Amino acid sequence: MQRTEILHWLQETDEARLEELWARADAVRAANVGDEVHLRGLIEISNFCVRQCAYCGINACSQGITRYRMPPAEILACAREAHRLGYGSVVMQSGEDPGLRAETIADIVREIKTTTPLAVTLSLGERDDDELKAWKAAGADRFLLRFETSDPALYDVIHPSLPGTLSDRMAQLDRMRAFGYEIGTGVMVGIPGQTWEILAQDIDTFRRYDMDMIGIGPFLPSPRTPLGGPDAASYLAPPDRQVPNDELTTLKAVALTRIVCPRSNIPSTTALATLDPKAGRELGLCRGANVVMPNVTPPEYRVLYEIYPGKACVHETAQVCHGCMEARIRSIGRTMGKGPGGRR
Ligand code: 5AD
Ligand code: FES
Repeated sequence: MQRTEILHWLQETDEARLEELWARADAVRAANVGDEVHLRGLIEISNFCVRQCAYCGINACSQGITRYRMPPAEILACAREAHRLGYGSVVMQSGEDPGLRAETIADIVREIKTTTPLAVTLSLGERDDDELKAWKAAGADRFLLRFETSDPALYDVIHPSLPGTLSDRMAQLDRMRAFGYEIGTGVMVGIPGQTWEILAQDIDTFRRYDMDMIGIGPFLPSPRTPLGGPDAASYLAPPDRQVPNDELTTLKAVALTRIVCPRSNIPSTTALATLDPKAGRELGLCRGANVVMPNVTPPEYRVLYEIYPGKACVHETAQVCHGCMEARIRSIGRTMGKGPGGRR
């Protein structure tokens, strides 16, 4: 599918034609990654952050939030719980927190890898090559770093502290692949300033980089941030060009991504579930996604990891989310994934 066709589909509104898109995405998903839905236990290990991303509620400038960094023993307990629940991997995610020492992370990764069969994914922001190599040597399997937008000018607007670092993120993704990681990335749908052309280019970029994992969720405004505050409207593209941050557009982006990246692992995201608590997860899975990331963070921490308000699962426990996910997966006739669920 050419970029112009992606662009056309993103703007398609005819329901009958969209049925074609959904059917095609679901068929590509079934043929390439099957009916298994892989479960990744998400551990939000620290909400400290040195960055000022204009969309993110835990950015360095965000006032009035209590910062935490989970002790290693508690992180390990979450990993064991994820294994006990039958998940094939854990994702350790945080703000960009230099207080998470490279050696500490390496020790945790090593402990998980030597005592469980879990795959370990890191999502810790932009980090030095030495750290990335040390974590790989300790056994880490995958790394998630969303590039957020493929448009350099928009990237600079939404990352005010670090103009010009889109190329750094892309370069880090390349280097991580060279170090042996499976690499994951993604974007938000409907970020202010995102035009249809930019979103089509984002999807084309997933394909060009042959990303192993691709997370796509709606942009959800956080009132603590510039993009969710009183001046938010000033960031918008002209109305006929601005991508809306709605469920339908997110599902189109997921479906098109599946079609152009048939073998990638694509989660049905928490942000989509937040926008549509009743059916968002299932709709994502029916329109191209094959992964979910149930939260296994202890409840006292997960309420503090508020990248946007009203986040799904904030008041649930790991056990509740497990039961909920399983019921949702079975309700659409899919099966629970077995094993680490790496890129095919
Ligand atoms: N709305 C939706 N997604 C967000 N993220 C950060 N802030 C928001 C928001 N306000 C996403 C970013 C980040 C990922 C961990 O969460 O894409 O990479
Ligand atoms: Fe957490 Fe449904 S997955 S409540």
